[in-house]
Amino acid sequence: MSTSLKLNIDKVFGFVSKDKIYANKAAAEANVRTLYEKTGVGSDFTGWVRLPSSITEDQFQAIEQVAGFFRKEVDVVVVVGIGGSYLGARCVYEALSDNFWQMKAKKGPRIIFAGQNLSEDYLGELIELLDDKSYGIIVISKSGTTTEPAVAFRILKSHLEAKVGKAKAKDYIVAVTDAKRGAMRTLATQEGYATFVIPDDVGGRYSVLTPVGLVPIAAAGYDIRQLVQGAVDMEKATGPDVPFEENPSAIYAAARNELYKAGKTTEILASFNPKLVFFSEWWKQLYGESEGKDLKGIFPASVTFTADLHSMGQYIQQGLRNIFETVVSVSGTDKHIAIAPDAANLDQLNYLAGKRIQDVNRMAELGTMLAHVDGGVPNIRIEIPSISAYTLGSLMYFFEMACGISGYLLGVNPFDQPGVEAYKKNMFALLDKPGYEEESKKVKSRI
Ligand code: PA5
Repeated sequence: MSTSLKLNIDKVFGFVSKDKIYANKAAAEANVRTLYEKTGVGSDFTGWVRLPSSITEDQFQAIEQVAGFFRKEVDVVVVVGIGGSYLGARCVYEALSDNFWQMKAKKGPRIIFAGQNLSEDYLGELIELLDDKSYGIIVISKSGTTTEPAVAFRILKSHLEAKVGKAKAKDYIVAVTDAKRGAMRTLATQEGYATFVIPDDVGGRYSVLTPVGLVPIAAAGYDIRQLVQGAVDMEKATGPDVPFEENPSAIYAAARNELYKAGKTTEILASFNPKLVFFSEWWKQLYGESEGKDLKGIFPASVTFTADLHSMGQYIQQGLRNIFETVVSVSGTDKHIAIAPDAANLDQLNYLAGKRIQDVNRMAELGTMLAHVDGGVPNIRIEIPSISAYTLGSLMYFFEMACGISGYLLGVNPFDQPGVEAYKKNMFALLDKPGYEEESKKVKSRI
């Protein structure tokens, strides 16, 4: 099965040999089977593996119906969630939106994200904005008790109820949550909100193709069927019957693990397109939460070039040599702008006359790759033809599958995140949450 994604690891071979990477063939193929057969650690959370191809027409229609309601009825949809209940939707939304959407007229509602921080100014300014807008809320939380979205939702819910009345407000709130358990399920049932289910066997960072991602993306007016189709095609291209040599996720997983063993402990995801900033945020959660445990794991970082060539470029070129780069390269653009000749040529740019900005960006990309490789930074390149719902779906599933294989190659459980509880315990103790009385005394004595 061919997808439009092309993986190139040629610029890694100067650092670790092709033989070493391909020696992972048996283990990587076994890991794909383990994911499909649910026989590895964390297998309770591998529902994402066959997810794209199992989404039904009824599920699409239910999501599109709710999205259609919001698109017809409101100026703004506020999407409330954090972490795995936020980054997938935000990533796709930012990648598919006009760079200047805030300033341009657009059909359908604006999407605004909340519940991903504890900034009083952020929520206060949002409430001011919503005072004279019609709006709906999509609240996404498996547990319903995650502090950031729970605080934001409590405030937004009461603002909406005060604005339109409690009876009407419930029709403008949709909850995406656990099928049966949790505070959000209880609240949604009690208040009579429309709901969508987060499957039990899909963890937050792998959930973009569940209603967690699909409901907000559809409300934004983007094509969730194309997004899922991209993922379906990648599911086939990385499945258990595909040999290692043809499986891009397996090759990427093997290459980054060999680089890690060779001392390259930081991976920088780079792009040359500002629309992919939140793609990198999504990717960092996926790899950081999946692999950073048991005192192991590649540290995932990100840069957006060419902007960051004028800031982080120095470090990447000549700093500590523990890094490698993975470039998400987009070959096509939607717009076509050629650089015009100028008679005075005071800016000395006439050598670019007739070239497109994309040509210049491309040469910046290739020049950077060679400079960084020469400076000791291995380069993995993942090329997509354009940014579209289809290519994003394909790219996201590619990285999810690679992450599962990679975590198993590393010898960790890529589907748990026990470490994220530590700060919460301290925060709850400092806030005097009932049940934390003993912790509270201990923590306060250390401040
Ligand atoms: O990946 C994860 O598990 C986290 O990022 C969670 O998704 C995040 O904390 C949100 O949790 P919840 O959906 O329960 O509000």
